[in-house]
Amino acid sequence: MSNSAFHFLLLFLTLFLHLTIVFSWKKEEFRNCNQTPFCKQARSRKPGYCSLIATDISVVDGNVNAKLIPKTSDQDSNPLILTLSVYQDGILRLKIDEDPNLNPPKKRFEVPDVIVPEFETKKLWLQRVSTEVIGGDSEPSSVVYLGDGFEGVIRADPFEIFVREKGGKRILSLNSHGLFDFEQLRVKKEEDDWEENFRGHTDTRPYGPQSISFDVSFYESEFVYGIPEHATRLALKPTRGPGIDHSEPYRLFNLDVFEYLHESPFGLYGSVPFMLAHGKSRGTSGFFWLNAAEMQIDVLGAGWDADSGISLPSDQARIDTLWMSEAGVVDAFFFIGPGPKDVARQYTSVTGMPAMPQHFAVAYHQCRWNYRDEEDVELVDSKFDEFDIPYDVLWLDIEHTDGKRYFTWDKVLFPNPEEMQKKLSAKGRHMVTIVDPHIKRDDSYYIHREATQKGYYVKDAKGNDYDGWCWPGSSSYLDMLSPEVRDWWGEKFSLQNYVGSTPSLYIWNDMNEPSVFNGPEVTMPRDALHYGGVEHRELHNAYGYYFHMATSNGLVKRGNGQDRPFVLSRAIFPGTQRYGAVWTGDNTADWDQLRASVSMVLTLGLTGISFSGADVGGFFGNPEPELLVRWYQLGAYYPFFRAHAHHDTKRREPWLFGERNTEIMKDAIRMRYILLPYFYTLFREANTTGVPVMRPLWMEFPYDEATFSNDEAFMVGKSLLVQGIFTEKAKSVNVYMPGEQAWYDLRTGITYKGASNHKLGVSEESIPAFQRAGTIIPRKDRLRRSSTQMVNDPYTLVIALNSSKSAEGELYIDDGKSFEFEQGAYIHRRFVFSDGKLTSINIAPGASGKSQFLSNCIVERIILLGHSSGSKSALIEPANLKVDVELGPLWLRGSKGPLVPTIRRPNVRIADDWSVKIL
Ligand code: GLC
Repeated sequence: MSNSAFHFLLLFLTLFLHLTIVFSWKKEEFRNCNQTPFCKQARSRKPGYCSLIATDISVVDGNVNAKLIPKTSDQDSNPLILTLSVYQDGILRLKIDEDPNLNPPKKRFEVPDVIVPEFETKKLWLQRVSTEVIGGDSEPSSVVYLGDGFEGVIRADPFEIFVREKGGKRILSLNSHGLFDFEQLRVKKEEDDWEENFRGHTDTRPYGPQSISFDVSFYESEFVYGIPEHATRLALKPTRGPGIDHSEPYRLFNLDVFEYLHESPFGLYGSVPFMLAHGKSRGTSGFFWLNAAEMQIDVLGAGWDADSGISLPSDQARIDTLWMSEAGVVDAFFFIGPGPKDVARQYTSVTGMPAMPQHFAVAYHQCRWNYRDEEDVELVDSKFDEFDIPYDVLWLDIEHTDGKRYFTWDKVLFPNPEEMQKKLSAKGRHMVTIVDPHIKRDDSYYIHREATQKGYYVKDAKGNDYDGWCWPGSSSYLDMLSPEVRDWWGEKFSLQNYVGSTPSLYIWNDMNEPSVFNGPEVTMPRDALHYGGVEHRELHNAYGYYFHMATSNGLVKRGNGQDRPFVLSRAIFPGTQRYGAVWTGDNTADWDQLRASVSMVLTLGLTGISFSGADVGGFFGNPEPELLVRWYQLGAYYPFFRAHAHHDTKRREPWLFGERNTEIMKDAIRMRYILLPYFYTLFREANTTGVPVMRPLWMEFPYDEATFSNDEAFMVGKSLLVQGIFTEKAKSVNVYMPGEQAWYDLRTGITYKGASNHKLGVSEESIPAFQRAGTIIPRKDRLRRSSTQMVNDPYTLVIALNSSKSAEGELYIDDGKSFEFEQGAYIHRRFVFSDGKLTSINIAPGASGKSQFLSNCIVERIILLGHSSGSKSALIEPANLKVDVELGPLWLRGSKGPLVPTIRRPNVRIADDWSVKIL
């Protein structure tokens, strides 16, 4: 071998080793399905395995009750109790548990505080069930009416539950393949060995096996979606079936995964056991299992059950899935849709609507692990001003504390935290500090002292305060399942208790899976004990949710109920949307992860968690300037827009990459600020309907199959389509623009035909974005330092006309801060353009009592895209004033496209009723 070849080989090997060390996900640290007995067992069962039948069907307290018993007498098995309830809006709830009258060794855990109290008020009190014999069944099935022409059916033998159109086609079903299994708790016998070991960790499993599994089928569906959190594609790929080798099921187990892969069914930080299915003919349906134990879900590929002998309607396409959980009860919800937005509403009517954030939180956030000290904070802050880049929030990571004792400050680095926050606040800016759930075991730390004295920590299997390793070293974990602990924790955020905090400080909750560096799978042992004797295994996936809830409620209390909280959480569970924002954790600065961020954020949105984003730039590694720029361009459209980086990475604030790149990143951030009125209106829509801010295309175009698996483009609301650029040096990109109507390039106003693929040239300056014809987007075009300083700025309305020369849009405004909007203190307008006239219509029902929201903001420009009459003036009514229509730029700065008809200075007040007629 020549010298140079040898050197090349050496270099290659070093590089390879380096890459595998730096970018290897430590797979072996985590259990796979085969190493997880309940998963392995459930996967090995054959269709038709279940031998239960439903008997004793009766109506009690407005529900249908039944018993599930084995068809053949089996001494070991007690009857299970089944309860079926019907709620308004076509929701069917199914509960299955052990019979409490038969004294099972322990009450199985039902997750409290997730279902919103209002949901119970929507229960329809069933009076009776009708019966019907299905096929050649020996026993009749019981049928309940769900409203709107839908029915729920309990089939007795073989036991099955399904939802169908009245007397007709099926929509969803459970146990159609007979895979239902429920391991009942039993008293331990001497010969029982229930212990489990994994990588040197022993799980004592004192209550033995208690898993539940069943199959769920979605009919007339082409794809299934949801069940975050995974770094996978939006449309979930099958995990089992012909031609699929060795795939793991989608795992739902909240884990702190170091350097996660971009395409893997592996469980990440959060778990939402809610799946949606969608197809062209039938529409959308959904299935949600409220259960906080480890779950594994298989999406079964066509033909998986080829020789099972089970016959299901053959005229209906179907996707089968297998749901497996380690513990808990069956508490499942069926949603019938039929549209995607119906399912969003139905699911959030159970788990709660996304909270309305403060206005500043919708703007841009600047984070890094770590901004070193007060000088660093001041410098970064001043650089934003020097470069004329708006931002709203500066974040401090763990190093700001005194030795990772949360609620404290490093006295050398941050001697004057209040003053530092006040300086930011003077520019309308906010600060966020990190507060994690692990508490340093240090007797001189007041939080630890109190928590120990009061017995507020999670206990280990032996009953001692659980001790695990996290950032501060030896730590204990607060038992957030206990309402008392949550209240106590909430108090710690009062301005008096949190020394050095001011009202402009908000909170970041991290590591709340919980992350335990020396625990099994980097988390807490499953046999650790919580409030009420609940085992950690039963509640694991909800631990972080309770922590997020406690922090968020604490901030509400701090502000005397006058200040909306802002709390970012890494761990996720159903209901998280009520407590704040989330992000997708420790991603990596590479192109694949940029791409994966779109699927991840879309999936979170589909499952109610609308306020989410990925670390802009990628957490690990140093992004090439091009990647960083592309990430800003995409991130500007995430609902939660924050740049963040690991402490080992080079500094990467937007001014560090040369003038040109700074300009482009600044432009991306400014785009977000200009669109803030539109974003905020969408946050309100999410808050009232459950429909996410960032949506898959199919949510807006449910009949267009070409959109169903598209996860490179997405909608922001119903008016804006954004296409990401996920490759280096891209010269062109294919953009699919759905719908019959045209699309206007957001930057140039140039139109593109709908229902077509367009191959477009790509420049480094921006990523493609388009306004849908027939929509009106409100903007605020003036450049300010922060969103707070834009409050009184005038609006621009951009009207994109459709083929019938009409358009519609909305604008929602409130004080951006308090809860007064809940009393009706807001402005909500609908803008309608038709027959050459723009009308502003009030759609707010009106404030109650004294809460009213007033705004003196005016509309300073109205831009008409697709208008070509050549008219020179317009008439404003009722003022009866004439204003000019002229050709003007679409953007105040650097407008690229042709001039467009513009109504300059109509100066109508945003709060008033008015119309502007083009003459
Ligand atoms: C975790 C978080 C990351 C944070 C770091 C230090 O890795 O995911 O965002 O910077 O902890 O707190």
